[in-house]
Amino acid sequence: MCGIVAYVGGQDARGILVEGLKRLEYRGYDSSGIAILDGERPPYLARAVGKVAALEARVWGEEPRGAVGIAHTRWATHGKPSEANAHPHRDCAGKLFLAHNGIIENYLALKRRLVSEGHQFLSETDTEVLVHLVESRYQGNLESAVQRSLQEVQGTFGIAVIHSQHPAEIVVARRGSPIVLGIGREESLAASDVAALAQHTDQVVFLEDNEVARLEPGKFTITTLENRAVSRGTTVLEAGLETMDQGEFPHFMLKEIFEQPEAVENALRGRISHSEGVAKLGGLESVMDRLAAARHLIIISCGTSYYAGLFGRYVFEALTDLTVETELASEFRYRKLNLRQNTVVLAISQSGETADTLAALREAKRKGALVLGLVNVVGSSIARETHAGVYSHAGIEVGVASTKSFTSQITVLTLMALLVGRGRDLSYGEGSALLRGLERVPDQIREILKQSGRIRALGEKYCSAEHFLYMGRKYQYPIALEGALKLKEIAYIHAEGYAAGEMKHGPIALIDPAFPTMALAPEDGSYEKVVSNIQEIRARDGRIIAVTTAGNTNLGSIVDDVIEVPSTHELLAPLLTVVPLQLFAYHCAVLRGCDVDKPRNLAKSVTVE
Ligand code: G6P
Repeated sequence: MCGIVAYVGGQDARGILVEGLKRLEYRGYDSSGIAILDGERPPYLARAVGKVAALEARVWGEEPRGAVGIAHTRWATHGKPSEANAHPHRDCAGKLFLAHNGIIENYLALKRRLVSEGHQFLSETDTEVLVHLVESRYQGNLESAVQRSLQEVQGTFGIAVIHSQHPAEIVVARRGSPIVLGIGREESLAASDVAALAQHTDQVVFLEDNEVARLEPGKFTITTLENRAVSRGTTVLEAGLETMDQGEFPHFMLKEIFEQPEAVENALRGRISHSEGVAKLGGLESVMDRLAAARHLIIISCGTSYYAGLFGRYVFEALTDLTVETELASEFRYRKLNLRQNTVVLAISQSGETADTLAALREAKRKGALVLGLVNVVGSSIARETHAGVYSHAGIEVGVASTKSFTSQITVLTLMALLVGRGRDLSYGEGSALLRGLERVPDQIREILKQSGRIRALGEKYCSAEHFLYMGRKYQYPIALEGALKLKEIAYIHAEGYAAGEMKHGPIALIDPAFPTMALAPEDGSYEKVVSNIQEIRARDGRIIAVTTAGNTNLGSIVDDVIEVPSTHELLAPLLTVVPLQLFAYHCAVLRGCDVDKPRNLAKSVTVE
């Protein structure tokens, strides 16, 4: 989603800002822009629709100089992608420039007032009210003008502001949309994502909601919107976070699919106690008493993380005596929550910044629940706002379509359920068997990855289909949903994920030779029932690809194609069956000429509601 980078220091700002924008490209965007001050010449503003490369060509062609600037990648919410709607926006006098992530909810009322005061608006965005508001409040002190303006604003924002009268200063602020400061020697940066800072400094400061920061080269101050001073030092960014290198792979997504064996290893590392048949999760130690007393678990998340959460329901039910519910964060946040005593809420998020998940966890906290996080990005908002939690340790994920984060999340959910279950009635034998199974998963995924060429051939056979059905039961039901989502997201093929038992209640009406089915049929407790569903599709001339356990030769006569995955505990099979589905979606997308890493209209991190 939208991204911000800001720089003040001694170097040429444009290179740093453009490079920063490129590092934010993976989040999804449709236009970008840059504003630069040099203290002498008039401010420079350039904006372009499309890729950052289009903006870069302009910026280098026109040679703006200056050591302070802000830049933005936009994902349109109010007003279509166009140069006029791209950020930064400028004030009427052409002195003040502002980039914004988030949504200003009362922008119409503010705009009406500002127009009546004589301000001229040039875009259709909600953001533009901010720049005029700050202009109207400015009396020589930029920080104070920003503070006073934001007190009038309803909605969410992460903003960066510069003013030609202050050529060695940036002011940033946040509410609900992340801003992180990077403090180097004789230079300071700010961004919406550490990915844009990490190559410059490892000294970072995470801004909290309703805080404003004033940045000068090598230093910063933080205040609240009411101008109360906030004292906060820098923290050191964890190393290894920023390997955004595609390596030998044609796309980040393929690289990340192939990184899954290591991602699962990292999710397991140091977290297994064979002697006790239990998982060790240091991040939960401080809340173990409350976890031991818990009766109910509600898992909240969005997108792929939601499907991991659906798996979480099955695994917690299987290994513990908790009653478990999984809910879309965007729905949960607006429900009338009748939370019972001893309810734990678990927020799952790769980015740790998803607006709905953040709002939902805040609501759960307000209602008194213990709120835990399962997050990938260290130091992200969700990680910081939960009472306790566990990192998934998948490493940076760049492809918009989530892959290795999903398998890491499922791995950690299994460990969490094991930990809670072993404190209850789960036996040592059951715990130990699962742990041994988990340790075999990375090598088993490696075996599946060797089939990538074959799965590409299946892609060639099926990628012209305009519709696809994915079906699975119980532990494989979330995988059916996730497989369908992958195909939709990156190959733009309409795909429906269904619980196989629901086939007869509707989707079977769609089946014909042009509407193929991906059937998840590992040899687990639901296998026979899924085979019946496959027969029913067969009887209606539907084409079928089945994902089943290696060595199972019984499906060959009733399906068109078989993909084999190694044999494992049925609770762990989702970690394996999802991999061919990711590869299938990937190959179909490439064969259809789609932009795999940056699918149209999608963003990696959805920081607006
Ligand atoms: C976006 C991304 C998905 C992701 C979802 C939830 O839609 O494109 O890949 O699953 O957000 O994001 P989160 O960071 O909370 O897991």
